[in-house]
Amino acid sequence: MILRVENLHKSFGAQEILKDVSFDVETGDCVAILGPSGVGKTTLLRCLNFLERADGGSITFDGQRIELGKVHASQASAVRMHTGFVFQEFNLFLNMTVLQNVMEGLVTVRKVPRQQAQETALEALERVNLLDKKDAYPVSLSGGQKQRAAIARALALSPKILYFDEPTSALDPALTEEVLAVMRSLAEGGMTMLVVTHEMDFARHVANRVLYMEKGQIAQNIDASTYFHDLKDQRKEGT
Ligand SMILES: Nc1ncnc2c1ncn2[C@@H]1O[C@H](COP(=O)(O)OP(=O)(O)OP(=O)(O)O)[C@@H](O)[C@H]1O
Ligand SMILES: [Mg+2]
Repeated sequence: MILRVENLHKSFGAQEILKDVSFDVETGDCVAILGPSGVGKTTLLRCLNFLERADGGSITFDGQRIELGKVHASQASAVRMHTGFVFQEFNLFLNMTVLQNVMEGLVTVRKVPRQQAQETALEALERVNLLDKKDAYPVSLSGGQKQRAAIARALALSPKILYFDEPTSALDPALTEEVLAVMRSLAEGGMTMLVVTHEMDFARHVANRVLYMEKGQIAQNIDASTYFHDLKDQRKEGT
């Protein structure tokens, strides 16, 4: 088990968004997080990576238990050393080339020597099939290329878990496909992934578990194949 989430809760003001969220993630899992808009999927991912502070509960990441109500900055950065986050809107540095974007975290955060950082970055770009754009600036890339650069940037840091928040929802269908193909190959390569998505085909064919969120809680935490099998049955009954 790489991640255990226990009794996570989070309010914004008087509004309780995440009521009591608990689940485990095994190494190599690809977990699809599904649920209606506004249910708290983004908030959950952000809390897990300390981009947002949860009010209470705990996570155990790679054997290290952290009480979310009283997180030390050092604990948060220790976890972030081993996680990657891919956002809907890419968040690339516009004044840097693709290669520089991918090297940035290695050089400035990890203090990896430039030569070695470059080698690692080139390997990451190869994994997302973007070596040919290494010297391009983000402005000249398609959305799919930008997102693959963002995935390479996360991969370069050798994360133990990768969080994706609707990585393809800003993309049109053709570009969505090229990003999903990269994500599929990562999942098949054993990368542990938590993916908030509306891409049902991706969830059906790549994820092995589904977390379905409803009313600030995990309403279902089941095998992806069971989830989609049941969904099909429900549709049949409904017609
Ligand atoms: N920084 C914030 N301050 C106040 N309220 C917030 C903040 N961030 C999110 N919320 C509220 O928390 C709720 C959950 O938002 P969140 O973005 O996590 O939902 P989501 O499931 O990711 O939705 P979507 O599918 O539309 O992306 C929403 O009601 C939202 O308005
Ligand atoms: Mg969201």
